[in-house]
Amino acid sequence: MIGGMGILTVDDMDFDALHAALAWQVELGVTEAIGDVPVDRYETPAEAPKVAAVAPPAPLAAPPTAGHAAPVQGPDPVAIARDAAGRAPDLAALRAALADFDGCELKRGARNTVFADGAPGARVMVIGEAPGRDEDIAGKPFVGRAGQLLDRMFDAIGMQRTAEGRDGLYITNILPWRPPQNRDPEPAEIAMMLPFVERHVELANPEILVLMGNISCHALLGRKGITRLRGAWAEALNRPALPMFHPAYLLRNPLAKREAWHDLLMLQARLR
Ligand code: URA
Repeated sequence: MIGGMGILTVDDMDFDALHAALAWQVELGVTEAIGDVPVDRYETPAEAPKVAAVAPPAPLAAPPTAGHAAPVQGPDPVAIARDAAGRAPDLAALRAALADFDGCELKRGARNTVFADGAPGARVMVIGEAPGRDEDIAGKPFVGRAGQLLDRMFDAIGMQRTAEGRDGLYITNILPWRPPQNRDPEPAEIAMMLPFVERHVELANPEILVLMGNISCHALLGRKGITRLRGAWAEALNRPALPMFHPAYLLRNPLAKREAWHDLLMLQARLR
């Protein structure tokens, strides 16, 4: 931190100043420390680094000739994803194919590939949006506060991710990697992950999909507007799908739990 008289170190700061500095960082969106030792970015290097002669990068493609302005084409990540997912004969192979997929930048910022949790043979498969901080650390979907609420919601109709058979629950997300600052996934990220989600559903083969929140509804139904979508059966990937409020939304809007309860009862009735 810069003070009027130079750089303040942690030793110079009292509790209140440290607390205020931390609160300021949290407000800016910092969610974790990435190094144990503070970096003084204002320190002048002892000697200015020498600028190495760098060869200009090789052109990616021949420059377009007049009248033929073809865009530079790289490998299509959606096609690569479709091919990798399609070749997975079972869930273990799909998990490995996903972990190997390098087309999505989000992977580089994530600690873990979050594939799924629960009973793969369950009648109901829940599809959420993307891992958050807790899921990124644990490598499992829906383990943070929203996930704990999700567990309580399904427990209320007798279904648990730890149960086998009829009462089991299988849980995944549209994206397997945490977006930075938990931002919404971008359309291109969803597009390249969809082949994996489609194959995931095919291999897990649940009777019913539960689509948690707008992102998974948009990805799998092509529609947004969870307030209108929820509470009505739809069809996704050739099976019945029930859009529901995301548990993170319910944490922020507890009054909406009434509608969520209604939807859980609809699900329970359909399963009977
Ligand atoms: N929200 C989601 O949509 N998925 C998770 O795994 C966690 C939070």
